[in-house]
Amino acid sequence: MIDYLIDDSRLVKTQEMFAKCKEVVAGGESSYARLTGTRPIVMERGEGARFYDVDGNAYIDWCIGYGPMIFGHRPKPILDAIIAQITQGGMLYTFPHELDYEVGRKIAAAVPSIEQVRFANSGSEATQAAMRLARGFTGKDKVLKWEGSYNGFLDCHAFSHHPPFDAAGYERYPRTVPSLGGIARSSQEAIIVGCFNDLDAVEKVIKRNAGQLAAVLAEPILADAGIIPPEPGFLEGLRTICTDNDVLLIFDEIITGFRVSLGGAQERYGVLPDITCLAKALGGGTPGAAAFGASREIMALEADNVVLHGGTYSANPLVLAGVNAALDILSGDRERVYGHLNAIADAMVGGMRRIFADQGVPAIINQVGPMWQVFFGQDEPVTRYRQARASDQRFFGQFQAECQERGVYFHNFNFERFFASTAHTQADVAESLEVIETATTIVRKRLASLPAGV
Ligand SMILES: Cc1ncc(COP(=O)(O)O)c(C=O)c1O
Repeated sequence: MIDYLIDDSRLVKTQEMFAKCKEVVAGGESSYARLTGTRPIVMERGEGARFYDVDGNAYIDWCIGYGPMIFGHRPKPILDAIIAQITQGGMLYTFPHELDYEVGRKIAAAVPSIEQVRFANSGSEATQAAMRLARGFTGKDKVLKWEGSYNGFLDCHAFSHHPPFDAAGYERYPRTVPSLGGIARSSQEAIIVGCFNDLDAVEKVIKRNAGQLAAVLAEPILADAGIIPPEPGFLEGLRTICTDNDVLLIFDEIITGFRVSLGGAQERYGVLPDITCLAKALGGGTPGAAAFGASREIMALEADNVVLHGGTYSANPLVLAGVNAALDILSGDRERVYGHLNAIADAMVGGMRRIFADQGVPAIINQVGPMWQVFFGQDEPVTRYRQARASDQRFFGQFQAECQERGVYFHNFNFERFFASTAHTQADVAESLEVIETATTIVRKRLASLPAGV
């Protein structure tokens, strides 16, 4: 807890309720990523670009639930679709229904590499299923993933998410490091870790392991290390190397899908994977929206029950009704939707750059479309995970806390990111930038006043 800035009187009910939650929910939260907060937030409700805590404090939300709420909180068309489904149709079928067809058709129309899909219940499940599908298709076992990338919390992929430097070995050929405790050692044997944006090193690793390597599970934009875009030629080169070595290319588009473009990063960069994983923006905030998809040839392994995939709740009509409504908005008016998202992000990034430059605070902001992150203490382009990790976390942590205190929320972990939604307005941008300016001034002065090395 940071205790030098916070006015506790604003958070009386929050503290009380959070203490109660902690009595019955381990840590008070049900995800590791939410345990990192400097100050608890206990929600009352969300509305558009804002949420309100139980003390009545309002926050402009640039985290939007870690990305899903691309239309902001409580978007009416999605709520209406879910309510209609639950009141008129039911919430669980476990039989095919029209929504399977409608949503499958819309995903296949939007995402260039997908012909068929299967629905899952979370991003972690989608990536796990994609890895298994690649193993079934190639008859090989190993999967290469990026250092600094999060593909989910399951045993099959929870490695080298944000490993400390002393555990992770050489940057170009990193060691495989379990992301936290309890992960089976046997799973570790199946994971190779590569360096995003180092095509030469990645090629060597793929060639050396080609006989055992089923797939590269690649976030096409390293969005779990802040935001790190692929350097020109990296994805194209990766595609060629995978094809030449009979290794499937899986794009984990759980953050990028339906966000950096309707067709995701594969459309934006013109590089097609063999298998794609989707969640988050796919459902516009509908909990449990997730899918994976590929060509008919690859998906035949699912259709013929050669590779095991299941889930009692997979493709439940409640979720699909929400996804269907989200896809209608995203694809129905894509120029307006993506134009707005990008304009909001551009205004925030432009404003933040101006503030940091005016105050002489060294900072690099990486942006791809509607998502961005700031790396303090950097003056060179941030193109690798380890550079992101080496940025000034102390400045970032205090900066985030000062913004949160003043009603502008983004995640307090520098490896997360800011997201724009269609609910954000230029007035939200102006208000946020005012707070960001104040927070920057406070943190800059405070850190400058400390003796060297403190
Ligand atoms: C790139 C990426 N892949 C997979 C996941 C896992 O998704 P979920 O949290 O829905 O299991 C995440 C979650 O943040 C993610 O960012």
